[in-house]
Amino acid sequence: MNLHARRPALRPAVPFAQTDSRAAFAADVVAGLSEARKRVPAKYFYDRRGSELFAAITTLPEYYPTRAETAILSAHAAEITAALPAPSALVEFGAGEAVKARILLAAAPHIEAYVPVDISAEFLAEEATRLTRDLPRLRVLPVAADFTGAFDLPGEVASWPKAGFFPGSTIGNFEPAEAAAFLYEAAHLLGPGARMIVGVDLVKDATILNAAYDDAAGVTAAFNLNLLRRINDELDADFDLEAFEHCAFYNVPVHRIEMHLVARSSQRVRVAGRVFDFRRGETIHTESSYKYTIGSFAALAAGSGWTPSALWTDPDGYFSVHLLSRS
Ligand code: AVJ
Repeated sequence: MNLHARRPALRPAVPFAQTDSRAAFAADVVAGLSEARKRVPAKYFYDRRGSELFAAITTLPEYYPTRAETAILSAHAAEITAALPAPSALVEFGAGEAVKARILLAAAPHIEAYVPVDISAEFLAEEATRLTRDLPRLRVLPVAADFTGAFDLPGEVASWPKAGFFPGSTIGNFEPAEAAAFLYEAAHLLGPGARMIVGVDLVKDATILNAAYDDAAGVTAAFNLNLLRRINDELDADFDLEAFEHCAFYNVPVHRIEMHLVARSSQRVRVAGRVFDFRRGETIHTESSYKYTIGSFAALAAGSGWTPSALWTDPDGYFSVHLLSRS
C-alpha cells in the first residue's frame, strides 16, 4: 500500500510487462506459502476464469452484496453525485466492467471524466470503447495499474475536482489498518476538495454471511479453488485440486469472513521451484472480507483524512454506500 512512491518518470502505458506481474505473483505466493499460517493474497483470484466465477457469484441467491449495492446506487445516484462540482472526474479503484460506475455516470452529466483504474489493460480498453460509445460526452481515461500500489492520474484531470469510487466492499479485503492507509493515500491522490464514494458490507447475522460465502451451488468453492488452478498454470505448480476443499466462515469477534482452502490429506506441493508441505487439515487463508457497522466505518474514514458526509443503505440494512469529503 504505497500510492505515494514515485514511479520512474518514463513509464510505459501499461505499468508492468507480463513477466514482471508474473514475478510479483510468484514472489507473493512463495512468501505467503512460507508463512506459519499459509496464505495467498485475494487479489490473485481475478484471472479471466476467476473474474467469470466472481460474476457468477454476484447473481447467486445467497450473495446479497451486489444486488443490495446496485439497488442503493440506482435509487440514489442523483443524490450521491449531487455534491460533486461541474466538471468533475470519477476515479474508480479496480474498475472491472464498470457496471456500477455506469449507474452514477448516467445520472450525473456534470461528471465529465471517468478514470477507471484496473490491473487488466485488456478489460480496460474494451470497456472504455463501450463507455465512450454509450456516453459520448464522457472523457474516458483508463489507467492500467494495480490500485494497491503506486500510480499516477492522467494529466488531463490534474486540475479537476475528483471523486474516488470504491464499490463492492472491496475495501473489506484489506486489513482495517490497510484500509485506513488506502483511504489516507487516496485522499492525497485525489487532491483538495476530493470526495470518495465507498461501498461497505455491514455486520449482520452470521447465518446470512456464511451462506453468502458458501453457496449451495458451489460457485464460491469453485472460485476459491480456481486460485490453485491459476497457480498451477502460471507458476509451474502441481496442486491437486481434488486434495483441497473450500471453507468459509464468519469470524464473529473480528468481524470478517475468512475463506480458506483446506488440505484433505498431508501432502507435498511444488510451486515455482519450491517445495511446500501440508499437514492434513492445514489451510491456505485466501481471503478476508471485513464487515463494518456504519459507525465503525465512519470512524475508520474519520481517522484517515475523510469526513463522513452522507450515507445510504438498502431496506434490509445489509449494505452501505458512504459519501466522504476530504477533511
Ligand atoms: C469482491 C472482495 C467484495 O468479499 O464479498 C465473493 C469477493 N469472495 N465471494 C467479497 C468474494 C467470495 C468479494 N469482494
